[in-house]
Amino acid sequence: MILSINNTTHEVDVDAATPLLWVIREQVGLTGTKFGCGIGQCGSCTVQLDGVAIRSCLTPVQSAVGKEITTIEGIAPNKTELHAIQQAWIEEQIPQCGYCQSGQIIAAHALLTNNPAPTDDEIDEAMSGNVCRCGTYPRVRKGIKRAAAEMMTAVNTKNENDGEMD
Ligand code: FES
Repeated sequence: MILSINNTTHEVDVDAATPLLWVIREQVGLTGTKFGCGIGQCGSCTVQLDGVAIRSCLTPVQSAVGKEITTIEGIAPNKTELHAIQQAWIEEQIPQCGYCQSGQIIAAHALLTNNPAPTDDEIDEAMSGNVCRCGTYPRVRKGIKRAAAEMMTAVNTKNENDGEMD
């Protein structure tokens, strides 16, 4: 079957019911997405399917065919630049052990794509399924707000520059 992961096509030979997580990690070799609980409760395995954050440990690979799969390896604009969310995670020194953080970042990315200026309640609601055993929740919230501000500034700057070119 053919999968599109981070805008790259991959052909994989697996059973249709294989969890997407295993295909991403074992067949495609993208190991940034982590196995946590295996029952969809912790969020370490979060990836996006057409921009929606899902639990890849519970998702049969078959249901990802024809959709765009985005993993932690796919959100940076290029190989030398980080996404604003990744940069904010560094600036705010969010990770502790780090195990949950690719899932946290992918969930945050889905949130900010749909809601560029979330309130604290909206952040807490969107991130409530991503468990952090190190308790980095306050820093995660700060990081999302920082990234939201950066992304908003980037959009405003681009709009101003585009306006000047008109
Ligand atoms: Fe350790 Fe979240 S940083 S589990």
